[in-house]
Amino acid sequence: MNMHTPTLTPKLAPAIAAYLDGAPKLLIDGKLVSAKAGGLIDVRDPATAQVVARVPEAQAEDIDDAVRAARKAFDDGPWSRMTAADRGRLVHRLGEIIERHAEEFAQLESLDNGKPIAEARAADIPVAYNTFYYMAGWATKIAGSTLSPSVPGEVHSYTLREPVGVVGQIIPWNFPLMMAAWKLAPALAAGCTVVLKAAEDTPLSALRLAQLIVEEADFPPGVINIVTGYGEGAGAPLAAHPLVDKIAFTGSTDVGKLIVKAAAGNLKRVTLELGGKAPTIVFPDADLDRAIPGVTLGSFFAQGQVCVAATRIYAHKSIFDRLMQGVSDAAAKIKVGPGLDPTTQMGPLVSAEQLRRVSGYVQSGRDEGGQVLTGGDGLPGTDGYFLKPTIFTNANPDMRIVREEIFGPVVVAQAFDDSELDALAAEANNTEYGLAASVWTQNAGVAHKMARRIKAGTVWLNCHHVFDPVLPFGGYKQSGWGRENGAQALENYLETKAVTMAL
Ligand code: NAI
Ligand code: MG
Repeated sequence: MNMHTPTLTPKLAPAIAAYLDGAPKLLIDGKLVSAKAGGLIDVRDPATAQVVARVPEAQAEDIDDAVRAARKAFDDGPWSRMTAADRGRLVHRLGEIIERHAEEFAQLESLDNGKPIAEARAADIPVAYNTFYYMAGWATKIAGSTLSPSVPGEVHSYTLREPVGVVGQIIPWNFPLMMAAWKLAPALAAGCTVVLKAAEDTPLSALRLAQLIVEEADFPPGVINIVTGYGEGAGAPLAAHPLVDKIAFTGSTDVGKLIVKAAAGNLKRVTLELGGKAPTIVFPDADLDRAIPGVTLGSFFAQGQVCVAATRIYAHKSIFDRLMQGVSDAAAKIKVGPGLDPTTQMGPLVSAEQLRRVSGYVQSGRDEGGQVLTGGDGLPGTDGYFLKPTIFTNANPDMRIVREEIFGPVVVAQAFDDSELDALAAEANNTEYGLAASVWTQNAGVAHKMARRIKAGTVWLNCHHVFDPVLPFGGYKQSGWGRENGAQALENYLETKAVTMAL
């Protein structure tokens, strides 16, 4: 195929090369298949811009096959008659498969997305398998309740919790395997069947999981279908499909709105995890030895391509210069390079398109009078999609870099001089998004008061980027509908039925 060979560890290189050369396949109805029309998507290593694999480009006809397989598996298959314990065991096995192949997945993820291998090993892959382990336990704990209606005569009422049915799931490219886990695990634990569409920019880990599901798990055919394709060609037909009962989507707010429209045809249920513009607020009494590395991590983890990234820094003017000098020094020391280099601390952006988009924001920040404290440029002498950690000061609330989601390593710092909590919270809440925020202070009362005032689904106090399967995750306002993780993730995939008997 004449493709570029990436730098993988010697032990795994042959296995990964064999997988990439072997034309990864879609998983539809229990079988690994090519797209019917035969289309392929080039997969590039963002560190070199070279093509490292080609994966199937699923289109409407493939989506239809996958949805029909999921429909049949839900309506007639052994899956719906399986005990909750057996279902939980299968969900658990997906976690075991990922943990057993953890290093291979970490390398695939780094190659495909560009993220530092150290991050994939420490975050993406463990969160992915731990999500399956956590959700596996929920399969046996789904329960309704008994109720006491105030109606004449004696009645007996209870609720049944039932799986919503066939679920279409569309995921983005920033945490490819982890996003797949957040979607698949609760849906399967609830008893749904699934068609998962991976992002066109990062299909490799999902298709490898598909292959391992066929080889190492015993799911009945059609319960899990995994496809790759473009948004309009494959995502849109999935969102509009009349045999799909529910769509779960993570991605941009603009596409989230298209999903809502597409779902209207059969009023399928919808949950959305969309964009963000998280504030991080540093009070004058904050422990700067913790806040400096914390804000730096919040801003630049995963190249800043995170919906909860700390993108708006608000610091009290009495500590603004010290904090920003510290964050700027730390940012300038971040080692930017190819993700597969074990010493790399920040990799390239995911694609040429994302680099173009984020660089456009850097230009816009400059044009609108922002001052670049550090970064702002790429790496010389490489074709990869690199951008150094970039910090703007001299910003005001009307600038595009303060208002819009950038989704890259670009953050904006502003000083405040009045620590009045309502006014500060109003500034933090001055965004159409409401996904996350962090607050840095040693005053516990201030911390918890701010937690109440901020309109966001996640508030971190003296930390940022803490994720765990028990913590509900999702957005207020235009950051989305519903919550992933925790017990609430199950709710996304369950219907409630009220049963009443006159006695
Ligand atoms: P996107 O929202 O277009 O893509 C996310 C997923 O949706 C992909 O699987 C894509 O194939 C699919 N998709 C795209 N158009 C679709 C359609 N019409 N119907 C159904 N599915 C569709 O995001 P993209 O283009 O990769 O990134 C653009 C911006 O979106 C980023 O710069 C960032 O601001 C935001 N974003 C936010 C994410 C989050 O986690 N909240 C994740 C990815 C992107
Ligand atoms: Mg898009």
